[in-house]
Order: sequence, then structure tokens, then C-alpha cells
Amino acid sequence: MTFARRPLMAGNWKMYKTQAEAVAYAGAFAPLVAGVDDRDILLCAPFTDLAALVGETSGTNVMIAAQTMHYAPEGAFTGEISAAMLSEVGVDAVVLGHSERRQYFAETDAALAQKLRVALDSGLLAVLCCGETDDERVAGRTEEKLGRQIDQDLAVVGADELERLAIAYEPIWAIGTGKTATPEMAQETVAFVRSRVRANLGAAADKVRILYGGSVKAANIDVLMAQPDIDGVLVGGASLEPAEFARIVRFVTAA
Ligand code: PGA
Repeated sequence: MTFARRPLMAGNWKMYKTQAEAVAYAGAFAPLVAGVDDRDILLCAPFTDLAALVGETSGTNVMIAAQTMHYAPEGAFTGEISAAMLSEVGVDAVVLGHSERRQYFAETDAALAQKLRVALDSGLLAVLCCGETDDERVAGRTEEKLGRQIDQDLAVVGADELERLAIAYEPIWAIGTGKTATPEMAQETVAFVRSRVRANLGAAADKVRILYGGSVKAANIDVLMAQPDIDGVLVGGASLEPAEFARIVRFVTAA
């Protein structure tokens, strides 16, 4: 694994945790991962938690991310948040195109291409999500779906920028269902995602971190992280409890 592909261990809280709960979590979690300096640790939290979390984790190895943002610098977009607003609060990263945002909030690939551009221009680490539905996998259309998402969402990203983003492959049928992709299936699909980035942007594809997400837990993290193309994970449910997520962050592989 190159330096550019330091493992990235991200917890996606979704719409869980009030500010008080977030601060209590951070206070318990940071000591559990203290001294882990060979991997990046990211908590992706609701907007209302971000400022408090940035303060609470200051001086630790824990980074903070928003779960979405708008591409416009400002404007009449009720309920939305801009990159500048996130940067001012001191957020390190932003998750873009989570399947729940695509499904419930009609987020499109065209909008995501713009968001990715703005995130990179703002110095935020972007975590772009992609993934296929159960129907698409059964119909043998996984690569077609992922290929289209990668082509369109990365349309305005340069090869020299790949180190500053991560792609999270999350099969939609594995999210919150307890059905994890087998490590082999996760490896194979993550390798496909990398090959698609390579087809578009060349050898720099070896520098982009590609994560797996979907029912990751302490019980399966070690075998997932042992796969050669999996550079980290995006964890939902199992990131909500500090000890469980700390164990995930502290994965151990034989290699
Ligand atoms: P899960 O969610 O770990 O609860 O399956 C993953 C995600 O949606 O990022």
C-alpha cells in the first residue's frame, strides 16, 4: 500500500446523535484510538454536531466530516449547506452521493460532479459513494451501474487530484441489512471501481483510496481489510458505539 493509500476508517452516523450525544461519544472514542497514527479516522456526523465535534476532537487523530453539502457558494437553497460553511467550522471532509441521499433526496450524478469539484477546490477530502441495488446485481448490471457513476461523478476531476478523494463502494443491498458482501465479492468490485478510474484517469488510479461499506462490523473488519484493493471502510450502524468503532479502526491483518 502506498502512502497515498493510508487506510481510511470512516464512521457514518447518518441521522443519529444530538450534539450532547456526539460530544459524549467523542470524549469516549478519542482515547480508544489514541496513538493509532498509520491510518486516517473520520466521523461523519449531522450538521448540528459538527462545530462541537471539531472542538471536542481538536488535538486528536480524529477527523470530522459532513454527510452532504450543496455545490453553490451561497443562494436560495433552503436547508442546504455550502463548502465554505463547512470549512469555516473546521470540518476536514464531506461525504458525497451516499445511496440514501441519491434515493431519498434525488441526488444526481450531474450534481455530484459539481459537488466533487467544489469539495476539492475547497480543500475538503471528498468521500464519494457508489453502489448497485440488489436488482442490478442479480441482473448482472453491477459494472454498468458503477461504471456510469464513476464516469459521470468524476467527470471534472484531474488525475493529480485523486489522492484527495476517496470512493466508497457500498452495495445498497448490504447497507443496514446485516448482509455484508463476501470479502472476495467486495475485493472484486472495488478492483473494478479502480480499473474504471484507471480507464478514465490513468495510472494515478493506484493513488485513490477505495473503501467498502455495507454491514461492516468488528467481526468482519479484519478479513475485509486484508483484501488488496480495499483501502478502508465506511461504517454505519457499527460506528454508533465507541468501543465497536474503535475495534474497527484498530483492525489487524496478517499481512
Ligand atoms: P451500515 O451502513 O454499516 O449500517 O450497513 C453503511 C453506510 O450506509 O454507510
